[in-house]
Amino acid sequence: MAVIERHPDIEDYFVELSLDEIARRGGLADIFEEGLVILLKDYRLPVDYDAIDAISRSLDDIADPQIRRRVKKLTTPMFFDEPSGTADGHATFGDAARQAIYDVLCRRDRGVFEKAATALKNAHEQVLRIFEMCFPDYQPFRLIPSARLTRTLFENLHWDNHSIDDDFHQARIFANLDTRPRIWNVGHPYPQWVREHYHEHDLGRFAGKDPNLMIDYANGQVLGGTQELWKDTAPRHRVAFEPGEVWLAESRLISHQIVYGEAAMVYMWFVRNDSMADPEKRFNRRIQSVHEEMQGKAAA
Ligand SMILES: [Fe+2]
Repeated sequence: MAVIERHPDIEDYFVELSLDEIARRGGLADIFEEGLVILLKDYRLPVDYDAIDAISRSLDDIADPQIRRRVKKLTTPMFFDEPSGTADGHATFGDAARQAIYDVLCRRDRGVFEKAATALKNAHEQVLRIFEMCFPDYQPFRLIPSARLTRTLFENLHWDNHSIDDDFHQARIFANLDTRPRIWNVGHPYPQWVREHYHEHDLGRFAGKDPNLMIDYANGQVLGGTQELWKDTAPRHRVAFEPGEVWLAESRLISHQIVYGEAAMVYMWFVRNDSMADPEKRFNRRIQSVHEEMQGKAAA
């Protein structure tokens, strides 16, 4: 179980459930949609951690910034296909990011590449199985299966902005793929923060607009964004996720910052709203409701 240091000024939204308990209650879509952070009890992703650990954590030798970005948040299946050929005794890939994964992350070591590929494929299959158990009724229409295999340090607190204003529901599963803890801070649920700061920050000006604009404002102007790192004073819970631990959270609803982490899987499903336990809980609708509630209060 993760070590959690709870802040008294923030709701205690952590829940711990075993896969058996989740199966018995027919999944957990209802509590996930409430905005809880759910940790899988008594479960560790069965992965060859030594294989993941053998991958280089540095992207410094990738010169092209676009390729570096793709490798930093690579999709797990980039490891799955065999090389397309060999040149000068080294494996070659048709895609430049896949080539960089082989050349830089795996240091052109075929054994390192193949062991990591097997470990990630096993982890991928487990995470898909967990999704099915947790959300048996969800109808996903897109999956972004990403692996973060390089060190992340000292993010600023933020709510996720997917830069898409489509009215979709998101299911997210996270897993720590490292033998060391992954350390996060987590803060206010977004609707609560919006309510509490509505008048102070004139948030009514964002009503009816792309919800990402208000998230950008909160992340950038209030929490400091990438310009004013670690200068906000918002309260937060502190969490150290154990090696192999798996957790679920809607990252647009729960503010979060990675303080330290070496390797993780972050799987994101875009889910049809009409397959939710309660479609009224989808993100865009929730934000619209907060505007209606606050503007109704203002008019009253
Ligand atoms: Fe994030």
